Amino acid sequence: MRKITTIHLLSPKKVQSFRPIREDEISRMISKIREASDENRAVNMSEMAVSLGINLICKIAFGKECSRRFDELLEEVQAVAVAFYMSDYFMAFGWVDKLTGMIGRLDSAVKKMDSFYQELIDEHLDRKRVKEVEEEDGDVLDVLIQLKMQHKIPSIDFGWDNIKAMLMDIFIAGAETSSSVIIWTMTALMKSPNIMEKLQNEIRSLIGKKGRVYEDDLPKLEYLRAVVNESMRLYPPGPLLVPRQTIERCTLEGYQIQPKTMVFVNAWAIARDPEYWENPDKFVPERFLNSVKGKDFEFLPFGAGRRMCPGMAMGLLNVELTLANLLYNFDWGLPIGVQVDDVDTTPSPGLAMQKKTPLLVVPKNYDV
Ligand code: HEM
Repeated sequence: MRKITTIHLLSPKKVQSFRPIREDEISRMISKIREASDENRAVNMSEMAVSLGINLICKIAFGKECSRRFDELLEEVQAVAVAFYMSDYFMAFGWVDKLTGMIGRLDSAVKKMDSFYQELIDEHLDRKRVKEVEEEDGDVLDVLIQLKMQHKIPSIDFGWDNIKAMLMDIFIAGAETSSSVIIWTMTALMKSPNIMEKLQNEIRSLIGKKGRVYEDDLPKLEYLRAVVNESMRLYPPGPLLVPRQTIERCTLEGYQIQPKTMVFVNAWAIARDPEYWENPDKFVPERFLNSVKGKDFEFLPFGAGRRMCPGMAMGLLNVELTLANLLYNFDWGLPIGVQVDDVDTTPSPGLAMQKKTPLLVVPKNYDV
């Protein structure tokens, strides 16, 4: 399944083919912010980034805009996914989860999601389908259907359930993570005006009067990459990575670990460990300039090893292109009465680490 994802769905060529979707969605976001700026209004950056993340993935995965129904279904699935299940810890106590109604809620959410995906599959199989978004070789679901129909995955019995599970994984893993990085980076920048100014100088001096930042400009924005890295170090969207299971018995710091033990990697704690990081709780992007971080597993925003994030290239493009355009086009302030120290950095519980309270910011058009 991973091979299918990396070779067919998220290959560099495929990620490039989604470029018009990224540019279009980000332009729309900028136009909405411009309206707010003309009217001197604050914008809810959290809400904007979340809807950008969902729109991007919907168009990439299903070739169309997301419906309200899908948003609601996704919210419910995410709620049941992070809920507490007794049977995760004590297998013999599965009856407790039935008694509390958790299994019923889980079943119902998954069934609703299943019929939603079935409708999307039926739509994609319909030869008369009018496409909302034109993509080279089609959207992610088109590619998966082609692989199934042309029997291109002989090694496994590649059924509709696999396709539905893959859509779900990509959706959950792709939408919330990118928006989380955008929100935390803007939050960190609002709390560090000098760093924000340094970054805006980098972007504006490179882009000049071009009017917007394009994807080809991103590799030249070194400080932007450092800022995004530093933001992911302090606020990783996947603080515990994805759960793993031990294959065989092993010994760790004197403890005997049995096979099939669930393991969580605390990437959040590693990225703030004073043994590896100077002033670990401070936002200092400069630490990422001219140095390679991450080769010794001290920085794992995308995980590591065979389960490492297959969407890293796409995620970074989403995040960097959005932030570069937000910072090129606008100067940012806080609503009247709010001080820098009032900007809250408490996270909320969930699949991806999100900021608990929304980030409200006031945009001011920057005249190029
Ligand atoms: C900045 C954005 C993103 C961040 C920070 C991020 C982070 C992560 C992390 C920490 C993991 C767990 C890795 C591990 O446990 O070793 C993961 C897994 C995954 N990510 Fe991402 N991700 C991002 C964007 C995306 C995008 C855009 C997609 C797809 C469109 C995606 C698809 C996946 C999938 C499918 C997995 C599960 C892989 C597996 O279980 O083997 N991610 N991601």
